[in-house]
Amino acid sequence: MPWADLHAETVARIESPGKVLTVELDLSEGRLAYRVLRFGEPVIDDSRLGFRLRGAEKLERNLALLSTATDSADATWEQPWGENRFVRDHHNALRARFHETAAPGRRFDVVVRVFDDGLGFRYEFPEQSGMDEAIIDDELTEFAIHDPATAWWIPAGEWNRYEYLYQRTPLAQVTQAHTPMTVRTDNGLHIAFHEAALVDYAGMWLRRTEGQRFRAQLAPASEGWKVRRSLPFHTPWRTVQIADSAAALYESSDLTLNLNEPNKLGDVGWFTPAKYVGVWWSLHLDTETWATGKKHGATTANTRRYIDFAAEHGFRGVLVEGWNPGWDGNWFGNGYDFDFTRATDDFDIEALSAYAASKGVHLIGHHETACAVSHYEDQMEDAFAMNARLGIDVVKTGYVCDAGQIERRIDGGSASGKGRIVREWHDGQWNANHHLRAVEAAARHRVAINAHEPIKDTGLRRTYPNWVSREGARGMEYGAWGNPTNPPEHEVNLVFTRMLSGPMDYTPGILSLQGRGQAIQTTLAKQLALYVVLYSPVQMVADLPEHYAKHRDAFQFIEDVPADWAETRVLDGEVGDFVTFARKDRHSEDWYLGSISDEHGRLLEVPLSFLQPGRRYTAQIYRDGDGAHWRDKPFAFAREQREVTSADVLTLKLAAGGGQAIRFVAH
Ligand code: NOJ
Ligand code: CA
Repeated sequence: MPWADLHAETVARIESPGKVLTVELDLSEGRLAYRVLRFGEPVIDDSRLGFRLRGAEKLERNLALLSTATDSADATWEQPWGENRFVRDHHNALRARFHETAAPGRRFDVVVRVFDDGLGFRYEFPEQSGMDEAIIDDELTEFAIHDPATAWWIPAGEWNRYEYLYQRTPLAQVTQAHTPMTVRTDNGLHIAFHEAALVDYAGMWLRRTEGQRFRAQLAPASEGWKVRRSLPFHTPWRTVQIADSAAALYESSDLTLNLNEPNKLGDVGWFTPAKYVGVWWSLHLDTETWATGKKHGATTANTRRYIDFAAEHGFRGVLVEGWNPGWDGNWFGNGYDFDFTRATDDFDIEALSAYAASKGVHLIGHHETACAVSHYEDQMEDAFAMNARLGIDVVKTGYVCDAGQIERRIDGGSASGKGRIVREWHDGQWNANHHLRAVEAAARHRVAINAHEPIKDTGLRRTYPNWVSREGARGMEYGAWGNPTNPPEHEVNLVFTRMLSGPMDYTPGILSLQGRGQAIQTTLAKQLALYVVLYSPVQMVADLPEHYAKHRDAFQFIEDVPADWAETRVLDGEVGDFVTFARKDRHSEDWYLGSISDEHGRLLEVPLSFLQPGRRYTAQIYRDGDGAHWRDKPFAFAREQREVTSADVLTLKLAAGGGQAIRFVAH
């Protein structure tokens, strides 16, 4: 029996619109907890709510309900870009006001929004006498999962930020996990824990305390606390997505967007979702370098070659890394030499931007900070102004250093000097705020941001639609040099964990299937399918032009596939095993399908009922060839064509480590 069940009194209750989920708040001897039921059966057992605040008694005991209020919403809103053009927000809401019955009599609200496929709740601290600010030493929120379950998770608070292989373990073996953490109960219920609208607060890790009970563990701040806020304020939403199937779990991730504030930037029509190429994979192969010298990749001549390649194949962007001073020494974790307003001598940025413009192409900027974040902030405004002047309307940022080593200047110093430096976590309160300072500064210049080594995505793209993508997991670069490399199940793990949070700049399309002295654990067809499976509105065509020249057949799909969608359906899938997506183009009646498998081969029956009834389509199929296998026959590949309608059922044969991509051209 969970601790609170015996004496708990339910003080407030809210049901989802279709009466699928119920959230109850209860008080037990003055301590507050919530629980979640699905069709009347427990999903989350009594889980505590509260805080440990500096200089004051815990805000956890002596609580009493003051009042409750309910509300509901059913609205559909439009995304400027995304996996779906329209998003429905259908929820019931509860606000429960609590106060301490003993001194100092503090007050706070718990606000719950419950959808049929999940819920979010947050704490709100209203203005009140005797409490001007809160220094949060600990948030005491718990998540106690009722049924025995399996978890897919990566460790939190460790050196490599979010770049770990996903582990699949019994839930009771998780130590401390990042969110989203995905759980499947032995009864087949799929649950994902995450947060929405992480603004001016520390990121939440999930620390297992006992059994299947987890507690919020906020990323620390250099001052020793976790969060400092003046009142009034509210926390991010703590979210729980709950679905019958892996496919439905993925689709329930609209919840994260729905819990974010609407677009604050107004019309962002200046951002164009698109594919891009770049001086990038060669750097990870070490055939070219970021550093200047004989092997420097970012030269004027080399970049012209990429611009030509992009223009010829209709790719909008050309990323160039190593374009600026700062790369020549040991730059890892040492960003003080980086200059974001000046190019190296062998990179004629003015001429290249003009050349790109003459071909309808845009350079993509690169701001690797190596975690000298204050040093970067000194230059941000000028750098984005320069970008805008040169038609560089997307910038990839980077925060390469070990977790917890973000450098923040707290006094003195100049743009060139270090001043006094303290170190922050990538997902601590200060760096959460840094990301928004960067995104807002970029927006003033109509520049979009694609952050690497970022803070996790909590749906802020709704509010700041120029925050278009990010990394925040192991990307394709681990195929180049990762030890261990990404195994065949990596992407099917990502889909149901990391990708629940939002777009990822995974950088797919390595058709050479080869890293630096190691093979990429994939088939050729799977590289194509990743364009449909792993959503990003800036989608890299990551391999070298000379490698694409050797795979013209397969490359056709990469040319055709869009980077922006009207509609997304997860047709089938199992966490960590396989997944099949269908997505409709935003700018035509065409549909695209992407299906990928882990290390096992599979036969999948796919009804085409997502197609428009009565319409004929030409299915351009890019599939694993006979005998294809990621280990010994990865290049076996076939391209074929069929006429189909929505009444047809296709049988997809995926190789071990394989995949399939299909374009349905509407007639
Ligand atoms: C890590 C990023 O993920 C990668 O894409 C980039 O090339 C390097 N950092 C250098 O900034
Ligand atoms: Ca598997």
